[in-house]
Amino acid sequence: MASLLIKNGRVVTADSDAVCDILVEGETIAAIGKNLPVQADETIDATGKIIVPGGIDPHVHLDMPFMGTFSSDTHETGTRAALHGGTTTAIDFVLQKQGHSLREALTEWQGRATGTAVGDYSFHMAVTDFNPSTKEEIKDMVAEGITSFKTFMAYKGALMIDDAQMVGLMQEVRRHGGLVTAHATNGDMIDTLIAQHRAAGKLTPRYHYLSQPEVTEAEASGRFADIANYTGVNSYIVHLTCEGALNQVRRATERNQRVFVETCIQYLLLDASLYGDDFEGAKWVMSPPLREPKDQQTLWAGINQGLVQVVGTDHCPFMWEQKRMGADDFSKIPNGHPAIEHRMELLFSEGVNKGRISLQKFVEVSSTNSAKIFGMFPRKGTISIGADADLVLIDPEKKHTISAETHHMNVDYSGYEGWELTGKIETVLLRGQVAVDAGETKVGRGYGQFIKRGPVNY
Ligand code: URP
Ligand code: ZN
Ligand code: ZN
Repeated sequence: MASLLIKNGRVVTADSDAVCDILVEGETIAAIGKNLPVQADETIDATGKIIVPGGIDPHVHLDMPFMGTFSSDTHETGTRAALHGGTTTAIDFVLQKQGHSLREALTEWQGRATGTAVGDYSFHMAVTDFNPSTKEEIKDMVAEGITSFKTFMAYKGALMIDDAQMVGLMQEVRRHGGLVTAHATNGDMIDTLIAQHRAAGKLTPRYHYLSQPEVTEAEASGRFADIANYTGVNSYIVHLTCEGALNQVRRATERNQRVFVETCIQYLLLDASLYGDDFEGAKWVMSPPLREPKDQQTLWAGINQGLVQVVGTDHCPFMWEQKRMGADDFSKIPNGHPAIEHRMELLFSEGVNKGRISLQKFVEVSSTNSAKIFGMFPRKGTISIGADADLVLIDPEKKHTISAETHHMNVDYSGYEGWELTGKIETVLLRGQVAVDAGETKVGRGYGQFIKRGPVNY
């Protein structure tokens, strides 16, 4: 079995911080300690580097059929780009087609990901049609290691389920020890506002933002939390963006309910001033839309208050030509933006280096909490003996600039073009293999494995 010794790095986990050595044997961590008295096949000198657990992005859409097209990163290109940014595991969404089974959808997604992913991946199952036969399939998905079930409270006619289906799904998922997640926005209200804007000839990307005001998210977040509280299921709100929605979660904690919350890097760093009246704003047409500076402040505070446990991306890239499907009508712009590659460097530079969060909070929200919530801990999400050797070596001082010219995502623009960051991910190990080093990919198509998941362990 090949061995690798990483010497003298500052090893940071969610609950420890020490300069030490890590011995990797095969795919896992064999020993951790100061000046380990061992010889290994290979040695990496990590002096001056910070070493954190491989990042986990629990919200990505790879090769996903959506709004008349497909997101432009495949499982190969998306997970490769993820590795360059220190994300060693990504959780993608399988979408049930309304009128069809969960199994059919899973088979379709397995066909795209198996043997092509470069980084490790798992699946959430998006239940878009809960009926007596879907109900029977919940236990089968849990047996496959798919323990989280996504619901959409918006995108009516394609993905949205109603409250009756929500209750039934939550009851069934609870019986099998799973987790229900939600895109929590009020779909009917949004559709009405979209129709009003279109009827008034208000068609630029700014009206995407104006069709999804804060109340649409706050209302649905509260409703989701209430139904989850009634059913007793483990619950998680994806891509939460704003104060109103987080206040609903805060309210739920007052009755001692735990609703897990994910925000995404763009909601922490970008705001709605990017939606002008030209088409440029299409780069940030996503749902929910970017919000206001006061919401960014609420989200950073929410992380430090422990109300927001996860920072993901909702990576859902589209080429500019695809975005132009909505050149004359904002409602036809494919929703989503690219971020899988830069989540960790952005969070390190703008979060840790700018003093908004601690280094340990960074580890929690970029890796450990996702591993715990989504049933992968301690195999993933930490640096401990027996864990997968998924390790990220960061040069904390190194400066670099984000650009579509140099990124690895299969998309021809960046939402962060020209941003100068401090802190560069230099080397990434995935299951003991150097996967990325000094900007070069060292593992190939098919190296990524499907990660079967268990129940919430948080
Ligand atoms: O705009 C977004 N978020 N696109 C992807 C689908 C979703 O709602 O998560
Ligand atoms: Zn969503
Ligand atoms: Zn999404």
